[in-house]
Amino acid sequence: MGFVGAGRTALVLAHAMDDAGYTVKAVASRSIESAKMLAAGISRCEAYSHVEKVVDDCDVVFVTVPDDAIRMVADSLPWREGQAAVHCSGALPIEVLDTPRRMGAQIGGLHPFQTFPIGQDANHWLPGSSFATEASGKLGDWLEEMVRRIGCQSVSIAPENRSLYHLTAVLSCGFVTTLLDVSCELWEGMGFSRDEALQALLPLVQGTLNSIRAKGTWQAATGPVMRADIGTLQKHLVSLAEHAPDVLPLYREAGRRMVRMAHRNQVVTQEAAERMELLLT
Ligand SMILES: NC(=O)c1ccc[n+]([C@@H]2O[C@H](COP(=O)([O-])OP(=O)(O)OC[C@H]3O[C@@H](n4cnc5c(N)ncnc54)[C@H](OP(=O)(O)O)[C@@H]3O)[C@@H](O)[C@H]2O)c1
Repeated sequence: MGFVGAGRTALVLAHAMDDAGYTVKAVASRSIESAKMLAAGISRCEAYSHVEKVVDDCDVVFVTVPDDAIRMVADSLPWREGQAAVHCSGALPIEVLDTPRRMGAQIGGLHPFQTFPIGQDANHWLPGSSFATEASGKLGDWLEEMVRRIGCQSVSIAPENRSLYHLTAVLSCGFVTTLLDVSCELWEGMGFSRDEALQALLPLVQGTLNSIRAKGTWQAATGPVMRADIGTLQKHLVSLAEHAPDVLPLYREAGRRMVRMAHRNQVVTQEAAERMELLLT
């Protein structure tokens, strides 16, 4: 197999596949430096300066370039019968690989439901991750088997739910980091550094994740909404109005969602839920 685009996703996947016994034979990227860096960590992997060489050499080619470049890059390559072209985007349908399909290749999508941030070794948090796989026939089976062999699991998402599926990654990853960023800013406002803020916040986040893993979302939720502590909620709103009014809409919106979750699961009464909703509106 080979990779066109030697960025963060390619790096993690190539290592995982190599570790699982697959032959990662070739890689090329926009720059030869990126390709060489990826190839350096993998035995017998060739870094090419021309992306076409990867398609010449490999049966399965992962097009791991940014979403906006996938179609253009795939359209420019010399695909052949019996080959497979796979992209790793969670947002795009496999139809962006129409050109390889017309040229005889099978096409597929393999989206790791995981985050690969810049400059971090994400390999060790890959095991256990889910991958949305989409492909027809033998390629679909092959991708599912590969996901199993790298210690992960596949999920099948209906095409009409692709966008919903993808935005849950934004809610669970991007928005969690955004909420923590807001918390850090508020700690800075109290005179602490970001490092000090994170030192205090991260064990709380970790405890929350542990609890969610053990009990599920609403059972893991704590705080004034779950206790129907309306006086405390009022104090929070006053503090935000004074120190960070721009955070008020976020707090109110998240608070109302939490009230509904608490009420739906009979943690708070109808009357308490109504009072909290009113306060947070
Ligand atoms: N990062 C994540 O957390 C994550 C998670 C799940 C799925 N994905 C998906 O994985 C895919 C790749 O994303 P990424 O985050 O790995 O991106 P990335 O780190 O920015 O890497 C993209 C790579 O593509 C190369 N590239 C860009 N334009 C190219 C072109 N025209 N021809 C050849 N190579 C080109 C870049 O080259 P140079 O380095 O050589 O300049 C870079 O190495 C995307 O479809 C994305 O949606 C990403």
